[in-house]
Amino acid sequence: MYTPFTMKTQLIKEILAMPAEGQNIEIQGWVRTKRETRNIAFIELNDGSCFRSIQLTIDLAKAENSALLTTLKKINTGAAIQATGQLVASVGSGQSSEVNVSKIQVLGTAPENYPLQKKRHSFEFLREIAHLRPRTNTFAAVARVRSHLSYAIHEFFHQHDFLYVHTPIITTSDAEGAGSMFQVTTLDVENLAKSGKEVDWAKDFFNKKAYLTVSGQLEGEAYATALSRIYTFGPTFRAENSNTSRHLSEFWMIEPEFSFARLEENMDLAEAFLKHLFSSLLDNCLEDLEFFDKHIQTGIIDTLRNICNSSFVRMSYTQAIAELEKSNVTFEFKPFWGCDLQSEHEKYLSEQVAKGPVIVYDYPKEIKAFYMKLNEDGKTVRAMDVLVPRLGEIIGGSEREENFDVLTERMKESGLDPEAYWWYLDLRKYGSVPHSGFGLGFERLIQYVTGMTNIRDVIPFPRAPGLADF
Ligand code: 4AD
Ligand code: MG
Repeated sequence: MYTPFTMKTQLIKEILAMPAEGQNIEIQGWVRTKRETRNIAFIELNDGSCFRSIQLTIDLAKAENSALLTTLKKINTGAAIQATGQLVASVGSGQSSEVNVSKIQVLGTAPENYPLQKKRHSFEFLREIAHLRPRTNTFAAVARVRSHLSYAIHEFFHQHDFLYVHTPIITTSDAEGAGSMFQVTTLDVENLAKSGKEVDWAKDFFNKKAYLTVSGQLEGEAYATALSRIYTFGPTFRAENSNTSRHLSEFWMIEPEFSFARLEENMDLAEAFLKHLFSSLLDNCLEDLEFFDKHIQTGIIDTLRNICNSSFVRMSYTQAIAELEKSNVTFEFKPFWGCDLQSEHEKYLSEQVAKGPVIVYDYPKEIKAFYMKLNEDGKTVRAMDVLVPRLGEIIGGSEREENFDVLTERMKESGLDPEAYWWYLDLRKYGSVPHSGFGLGFERLIQYVTGMTNIRDVIPFPRAPGLADF
């Protein structure tokens, strides 16, 4: 028989939600600040369970000569403590309840040189102490938003009968055909280099060259053409040497793939998906969003609310180019039909033209991946990207080429060997159906909803060129 499980400890989040009636409670957390007046000591305690900290008050007069005073001396910013006391309505403004402490225990002290003293630290500095930064308001809020969004992603797909599929992390096929993959090998590279001999990859661990995946899409398609609707949610790796505020070498991607669906439904899905995530965040993480709205990105709450209540603008690539060409802005890269959209173009289209998220579709085939369905014009493919203000692309997707011959031809054009993709082509040989899908960059999503400008600040331990500490 199932017995419900109750935790022995209570979180500050739960305690702050209780009516304060003088009841006895026990509480744990890390000290944010401690200050003393002549009669009272105040400790601001935080345990990361919610944005707010709880105030502990210690009556110094009463506590005189007691063990409490000795303990109090050992408590500095950063220390971990456990306290017992009464939960009472707060007299001070800014908090609803506080704890009148009767007993306090230090679980772990923190010396005076604890790096997170109560002052504003730059994000650059905090990146150097990525193991401690989750103890700051900003990074704890990012972590809670990230966790909630993960949950909401699974919730959305579960509600719409998409099955969660785990695609491999180690792979031998380049899903994007772009060749920016990290190689995985167990060969003794150092000695091989010294020997001057040519490398025999058949002797490597997988008997051929293997890589970290750039996308779970191709394997996802195998499951979508059997189970109708699937999605993946996992880490992906790109060995591009791009040192920008929106690129990581290791990032998480959500990739739904669904059969019997054309580009239109794909756009509808992407729009409904983002709106679900924004509204779920507004319903569940409002305190965190209020912090971002106040300190990081003014107006973000209204922006997210408005998006939930309006439709995304949709325009073809050709229309997008026309908009860019007629604008008065001098772009670093001059736009022309056939060019890849640069982030400055993407930002202009969403910020100035659409004034919100915009879906651009039907891109020239030359600038898109081999698997995208060729349009009847023979020049464009059924690609779609969702572009948002501040960031540009957050979603990239397409209807997939389901015709065996056309796909084989597109592979050759893109310089890929169709034989290496034999199993992917099989999906077009046996019971091929129209199908579509897209990839949402999880960190870009978090950047968008929090306003954090650098992608390295929305993942716990970022990986980027020259950066793999912690
Ligand atoms: O546009 P991309 O490359 O598309 C794919 O990988 C497809 N296989 C998706 C699909 O159709 N199933 O990447 C998808 C998204 C981008 O829109 C962007 O948000 C994010 O992944 N992304 C990155 N995020 C962080 N760092 C990087 N280096 C990223 N590269 C792409
Ligand atoms: Mg893309």
